[in-house]
Amino acid sequence: MAFRLLSRILRASQKSGLSVSSFSKLRVSSHYLMNACRLSSSAPKPQKETINVTFLLRDGEKQEVQAKVGDNLLDIIIEHDVDIDGFGACEGTLACSTCHLIFKQSDFDKIPDKPTDEELDMLDLAYGLTDTSRLGCQVVLTKDMDGLEVTVPTGVADARGGPL
Ligand code: FES
Repeated sequence: MAFRLLSRILRASQKSGLSVSSFSKLRVSSHYLMNACRLSSSAPKPQKETINVTFLLRDGEKQEVQAKVGDNLLDIIIEHDVDIDGFGACEGTLACSTCHLIFKQSDFDKIPDKPTDEELDMLDLAYGLTDTSRLGCQVVLTKDMDGLEVTVPTGVADARGGPL
């Protein structure tokens, strides 16, 4: 409704022969007004889609969480307070390898983004590296990954300072 009204005002101002600078100021003002309308809208925001992710922890326990599609596994572990000692020490800046996780082959194949050279360099320094290892901070969840099960390695190494 507000958008339609603003469009009408803009069209009317064009027809009424406002100067170019007045018209520009009006357009800038309307841009801010439209953003304000959008931000103050009481309409419910669409919820992010979620999938099930299970972490197989070092002590043999399992922790299943509802994870938001689009988040990475470090975000998920922090958000759900999954207790993994030393995990994510560099906060996702690809400097530590403490977020090393091991995937089942079928899950590993569903990860759309291949590891970058920087991730591979960090993985080389990870404890207990496998063929299906990735750094959790670099794995972004997709809808296809529903039912994902990841194993937390039994040890952790921080590439910034050796074993923890
Ligand atoms: S959190 Fe440090 S590399 Fe992922």
